[in-house]
Amino acid sequence: MTTSQPIVPDNCHLISLDSVDSTNEKAKTLAQSGADDGTVVWAREQVAGKGRHGRTWNSPRGNLYLSIIQRPNCKLADAPQMGFVTGVALADALRWTTDVPAALKWPNDLMIDGKKASGILLESAADAKGRLDWLVIGVGVNVESFPSDLPDVTSLREAGATISLEGLLSVFLERLFWYADEWRHSGFRATRERWLSFALPAGTDMRVRLPDGEVFGRFASIDKRGSLLLDTDRGKQRIDVGDVFPLPSANQEAN
Ligand code: BTN
Repeated sequence: MTTSQPIVPDNCHLISLDSVDSTNEKAKTLAQSGADDGTVVWAREQVAGKGRHGRTWNSPRGNLYLSIIQRPNCKLADAPQMGFVTGVALADALRWTTDVPAALKWPNDLMIDGKKASGILLESAADAKGRLDWLVIGVGVNVESFPSDLPDVTSLREAGATISLEGLLSVFLERLFWYADEWRHSGFRATRERWLSFALPAGTDMRVRLPDGEVFGRFASIDKRGSLLLDTDRGKQRIDVGDVFPLPSANQEAN
């Protein structure tokens, strides 16, 4: 798909930048000064891109970097569900525009053939009553390139897809705004089902790095709030925070 300007939903205000420190930082500043629900900051490059857990997100030109401001009327604790909404929108957009075998890995990484091609960083603030004031959803997609010094990462180009940034952004935002609206009106149930339909297969062996250790098991599901459910040798375990590393299955290792 080749379009010179992204096409955005009616209720989206797109701010296009050439270079920025971090689209999340820019979006947070805008949100703190009252920017509307649906404001999107998109940049061609970031010079201080941020990943989860304080990590750096390499952000050269050619990849997709954007942050979306959302102001749903919800509890602060429910805001992470928008990460699943975003993952679903991205996986759906990629299935629609490319042939890459995209799959979602908890909580919200997009994987291609076992390698990470996209990550999502959520940042939020509460209002005086403790409800969500604003949510910034940062999305980075390795379209043209990926960091060569990291293991198990890839790009859409390496996976054989050629798509313009504008084309991907247009389809992604169209899906995201639609799914976000559905989540606001109908809750997490439909998002959860869609997310599971795009997820790595149940039974995938994985290591999960926890804040205080690690656990090995097999992916079972996510629960009705979005926590990871892992089958372990000591029974089913519910995990709220962690980093998941899929492992080659016993069958794959034998072959
Ligand atoms: C992760 O660690 O998996 C999350 C990466 C999120 C990167 C995106 S790129 C656009 C937005 N701005 C940032 O500084 N980070 C997010």
